[in-house]
Amino acid sequence: MEARRSTEPLQGGYDVDENAVRFSNYFHLLRELVHLSCGWLALEPRLEVKYALGDHLHDDARSVTKVKRRLYELRTPSDYPGAPSDELRELLDRASAATSSEDYLRIAYGELKPALVAATRIHLDRLDPMLDEPSLRLLVQLSNRQERHVTELPQTPVSPAFEDLGALPIQLRQVRELTVMAPLDAPARDGYVEVTAEGDPYLTDSLYVNGDENHVPTDPEEQKHFFHGLMDAELCAAELMARNSHEHPEMPWDFHVDMARQCWDEIRHAEVHDALMASELDCHWGDFPVGFGYFQSVYAYDLLGRLVLFNGTSEQKAMWRHSHRRKVLIELGQPKVARVFDYLLADEVPHVHNGRRWGTYLLGGDEAAYREKLRELRAALDPTGTPVGTPAAESA
Ligand SMILES: [Fe+2]
Ligand SMILES: [Fe+2]
Repeated sequence: MEARRSTEPLQGGYDVDENAVRFSNYFHLLRELVHLSCGWLALEPRLEVKYALGDHLHDDARSVTKVKRRLYELRTPSDYPGAPSDELRELLDRASAATSSEDYLRIAYGELKPALVAATRIHLDRLDPMLDEPSLRLLVQLSNRQERHVTELPQTPVSPAFEDLGALPIQLRQVRELTVMAPLDAPARDGYVEVTAEGDPYLTDSLYVNGDENHVPTDPEEQKHFFHGLMDAELCAAELMARNSHEHPEMPWDFHVDMARQCWDEIRHAEVHDALMASELDCHWGDFPVGFGYFQSVYAYDLLGRLVLFNGTSEQKAMWRHSHRRKVLIELGQPKVARVFDYLLADEVPHVHNGRRWGTYLLGGDEAAYREKLRELRAALDPTGTPVGTPAAESA
């Protein structure tokens, strides 16, 4: 117990209001990063960069939640702590006006994140570690994460027009609206990946139906095609969730955290298939064509339709197939491939829940109305769960 007692003199640090202003600035910067990274994820062609973005935007979404909580504790309205100052607004406007993913990354990882790292260092240096221990804990995690991000997606750092992001004033009772990008035509892929209208012709409907007719890919050649198609389906799922968040800034903050989490899960699934193909199946990303027919058929719907069709239907039905695939592969003595489906199945549970949670929210909290919407939209699907007239190749 003795070790917990300190005779160090208190330093005083920041007063509560100054502290809250600092966190309000971090809130604005992080919220904009989540919003814009969600917008650009699908348009970033480079696979490795897409992987990193999906991971970082989830970190940043969780950081916003923690910063909001700290603002509440510091007696500041945590839903919206006033608008950013002109200096910060200028920087955020430039990030919003980016015209390519490369341009956005230059600002996000060369200016916004370094400004946040610099401010958290100043903050950690000056705060009183005893009086303000909750901020200390939060800031250590926040700055570690941001440092990792700028190391993973390095850009030339550019000094901002201000010295300390945390010291910028906040414009009380004003609101900064987030800018929403133009709708997506199609996700971007590396130049070495061939995109065709019908995707990989090797992938047959029997891979994607539930019940007795379901075919589990067990021989090496069909597994190559199957996991390659599945990897693209995971990328499309990450991109769809990211666009759901980006295109709906009016949704409650928890919705964005759920979308960010699912985006990261789908990115991790793609990474798993990527590694499985290279290490177990002797094939690689880009070996076969991919198609965006299924993605585009779901993306064409409004948010409720996307949640019902993708989370509530496609992912819900995929749970049965993952479980069936796992069982067949274990019986065949392929435990490593079977283990992949074990985890895909586990992750699918919260993804289906996201559909029910936010679909019900959009229907005014009426769960019966959500079930009715499920019935209505499912009636227009073929046996593979694909809207009629769309190629099924990119399903899971
Ligand atoms: Fe997935
Ligand atoms: Fe999923």
